[in-house]
Amino acid sequence: THRYAKVLQLTLAVLKPDAVAHPIIVEALQQRILENNFIIVRSKDIVWRRRDSEKFYSEHAGRFFYQRLVEFMSSGPMRAYVLAREDAISSWRELMGPTKVFRAHYTSPSSLRAQYGLTDTRNTTHGSDSVESALREISFFFPEFNAEEWLEREKQRAR
Ligand code: TYD
Ligand code: MG
Repeated sequence: THRYAKVLQLTLAVLKPDAVAHPIIVEALQQRILENNFIIVRSKDIVWRRRDSEKFYSEHAGRFFYQRLVEFMSSGPMRAYVLAREDAISSWRELMGPTKVFRAHYTSPSSLRAQYGLTDTRNTTHGSDSVESALREISFFFPEFNAEEWLEREKQRAR
């Protein structure tokens, strides 16, 4: 018989420079992470060079917002997390709310981007959007952390 257990996932969550600029917002966001049953597996504070922004967001190269995006993401400290939860990837994206803050205000008023976002670019948080991008982005921020090995170990432990 099958047990339709939800799958434990890892995702990359980032508090962007607009959030980290204010210690109270970092506190509030971390509170929301924990009260939504995410486990913080790793965390670090990091400052990007412009080339880090460009590499991370290379899929958006040429888009109208690309220059201000890479400028902003290398404008000050960020906090990155590896988060674990059942359905971590979509759960974190849902908690963040839509990319554009004006849209977040009317579709998801209690989302993080609605509550703390400033503009479409300075929108408080990042979250991976698929299993593949989560693995890629986790190793971008945490090259020393082996996500697949961690997940495998948790699976063994759960049996
Ligand atoms: P995207 O990957 O589309 O959004 P998300 O962060 O929700 O996955 O875009 C990456 C970032 O680029 C986004 O968080 C903020 C910035 N951006 C803008 O500044 N303006 C825009 O119109 C879009 C679509 C994104
Ligand atoms: Mg994206």
